[in-house]
Amino acid sequence: MDCNKRSYCGFLSKKDTGKTVTVSGWVDTVRDHGNLLFIHLRDIKGVVQVVFDPDKDVDVYKTAESLRSEYVVELTGSVALRNEDAVNPNIKSGEIEIICTRLSLINKAKTPPFNITEKDMMGNDAPVFNVDEDIRLKYRYLDLRRPAMQQKIIARYKAIKVIRDYLDENDFIEVETPCLTKSTPEGARDYLVPSRVHEEKCYALPQSPQLFKQLLMTSGFERYFQVARCFRDEDLRPNRQPEFTQLDMEMSFVNEQCIQDLLEGLVKRVFEKSGYSVKMPFARLTYEEAVSKYGNDHPDLRFGLEMVDVTDLLPDVNYKIINSIVNSGGLVKGLNIKGQAGHLSKNILQEELAKKVIPQLGGKGMTWMKMEEGRLNSNIVQFFTDDELADLVERMDAENGDVLVFIADIDHSKVNEVLGKFRLYIAERQGMIPDDTYALCWITDFPMFEKFEGKLTSMHHPFTAPQIDITGLSTEEELLSVKARAYDLVINGEEAGGGSIRIHSPKVQEQVFKILGLKEEEIKEKFEFFINALEYGTPSHGGIAIGLDRLISILLRTESIRDVIAFPKNRMAFCPLTGAPDFVADNQLKDLNLKFIRDLS
Ligand code: AMO
Repeated sequence: MDCNKRSYCGFLSKKDTGKTVTVSGWVDTVRDHGNLLFIHLRDIKGVVQVVFDPDKDVDVYKTAESLRSEYVVELTGSVALRNEDAVNPNIKSGEIEIICTRLSLINKAKTPPFNITEKDMMGNDAPVFNVDEDIRLKYRYLDLRRPAMQQKIIARYKAIKVIRDYLDENDFIEVETPCLTKSTPEGARDYLVPSRVHEEKCYALPQSPQLFKQLLMTSGFERYFQVARCFRDEDLRPNRQPEFTQLDMEMSFVNEQCIQDLLEGLVKRVFEKSGYSVKMPFARLTYEEAVSKYGNDHPDLRFGLEMVDVTDLLPDVNYKIINSIVNSGGLVKGLNIKGQAGHLSKNILQEELAKKVIPQLGGKGMTWMKMEEGRLNSNIVQFFTDDELADLVERMDAENGDVLVFIADIDHSKVNEVLGKFRLYIAERQGMIPDDTYALCWITDFPMFEKFEGKLTSMHHPFTAPQIDITGLSTEEELLSVKARAYDLVINGEEAGGGSIRIHSPKVQEQVFKILGLKEEEIKEKFEFFINALEYGTPSHGGIAIGLDRLISILLRTESIRDVIAFPKNRMAFCPLTGAPDFVADNQLKDLNLKFIRDLS
C-alpha cells in the first residue's frame, strides 16, 4: 500500500468523523453480534473499532467473518461517531468507529500461545499478565507485540534519544569501539571468540569499553560517549544480563565534581522527560557511611530506617550474649521500625523474624523491644538497667508505637550485612517503601583495594586513581586504607552506574598492576599497549558508565531489566527464542582448530 495514504488506528478521533480512511494492523479482538461484526484493529499507535455491516457490503462482511485474533489486515472505511452509550473511554479512539467498505487479508495467524490483546487489562479490575517468562521469551516477537511491552521499548528509545541530545549539547561525541578485542578486567569472566586466522588465539568480547575510552582521551577527543554493548560471564541475578548496554562516558581535564554535575543534569533530564522530578543535588554518602548506616554500598534511601550503633551504651549489660560480644570487641546495632508496634506482634518478632528470617539472612539472632506507654518492653528488658534502657530510647529516638531490633556479633561486617538485609526485608514486609519516589545518591570514597580470597583486588577496576600518592606504600594494611577517586550512582537501592578519575601516569598504573599481583611479563603481555599510550601525553581524565538497562528499568518500574531489553537471555543466560548458545557443526570447530574435551575428570 501507499504508506502516505495510511492512517494510524490510535490516532483516529472525533475530528476525523466523516472521512474515508485506510488502516492496517493486527486484529486485536473479534465480536460477532449476529447481524453485525466488530473488530478492534491494533497498530503501533493504538486500537480502533471497525464495524462490518452486511447491509452495507455483504462480501466484505463475509470475508470479515473469517477474521481471527492476530490476522493482519488492511481496510478502508468511513469514520463515524459512536452512539453515546457505546463510547469506550479506555481507548483514545473510543468515540468513533470505522464502517468498513474494503477489507484485504494480508496474512493469517496461528492462535498465539498467550493473549496479545490488552482489552481485558483495561479498567480497574484488570488481571495481571501472568505468563511463564520462558514462554514469553520463546515467542518474544509476540510478547513484544503486546502494547505494554511496545511502550517499554519505545520509552527506552526515547530515553536514549534524550541522553544523546543532552550529551551532544554538552560537546560529547559518540565513538564506537571494538567488540572483538582483548580482555578488559571488570571482575567477570570473559566471553571468548576463537580466531580462525590466528591459530589458538582468542578475541575477548568487551566487559566494558574502559581501555578504549581512555585511549580516546589520549587521542585528544576530550568528551566521548557510547551506547555500548558489554559482555560479562558472571553469575546471573535479576538485574544482570550476560549481554547488556552501558551509557559509557569519558572526559579529559576534569575532577569528580565536573563528572557528577554533568551526570546529575543528564539523569534529571531523563527523569523529567518521563514526567518525574528528582531532588537536586543528589544525596552523597561515603562508602563507610553507607555501609555503617544501611549495611551496603548501594543503599535504598526511599525510606529512613537507619542503622544505629549502640555498642558503647552496653559495656556492663547484664544480658549475657550481648555483654560477651561487646566485651570481645564486637558490635551491636539497632533499627527503629517506626510506628510498627501494632503490626509486629511478639509472636511475629520472636517466632518469625528472630527465629526464621534472621538466620536466613545469615545472622545468629535478633533482640527486639517495643516502645509502649513510655517504656521499652520485651522478653529480655529485665536484663537491662533503667539507665541502659533510657540511653537506648534516646539513641534510637524511640517513641510510643516503635519497634527496636538489635543485632550483635563479634564480626562487625556481619552485623552491617545482616541488619542491612533485614532493613530491606522489614521495609518491604511492612509496606514502608514508597513506590512513587526516586531516591538518587552518590557513593564516594571507596577503598582502592579489597581483599578477596587472600589477595588484593581493585574494588572498582585497576585504572581507578588513588586519592593519595601511593608510591611509597607497600604493606597490605597501608594499601587497604587507601581510598579511590571512585563514585557510584545509586537509585532506589540499585547500583545504576560507576566511574572514577583514572590513573594517567604510566608509573602509577604499573605500580597498581604490581600491587594486584601481576608479574612484569603479564603486565607486558596484557597491558603494554595501554601503558605505552599513557607514555605519549595522556591528559588527566575520568568518566563513568551507567547501566542503561538498569536505569530504564528503574525509570519504568519494571520487575526485571529483561522487560526493557528487546531480546534478553533468561536466568540461565539462554535464549529460548533462538536456542543460543547451541552446538556448532564439527567443520566449524575444525576451521577454528577446536575440539571439545568431553571427559575432564
Ligand atoms: P561497572 O562494572 O560498575 O563499571 O558497570 C557500570 C554499570 O553497568 C551496569 N552493569 C550491568 N547491567 C546489567 N547486567 C550486568 N551484568 C551488568 N554489569 C554491570 C551497572 C553498573 O553500575 N568501566 C567501568 C565504568 C567506568 O569506570 O567508567 C564499568 O564498567 O549499572
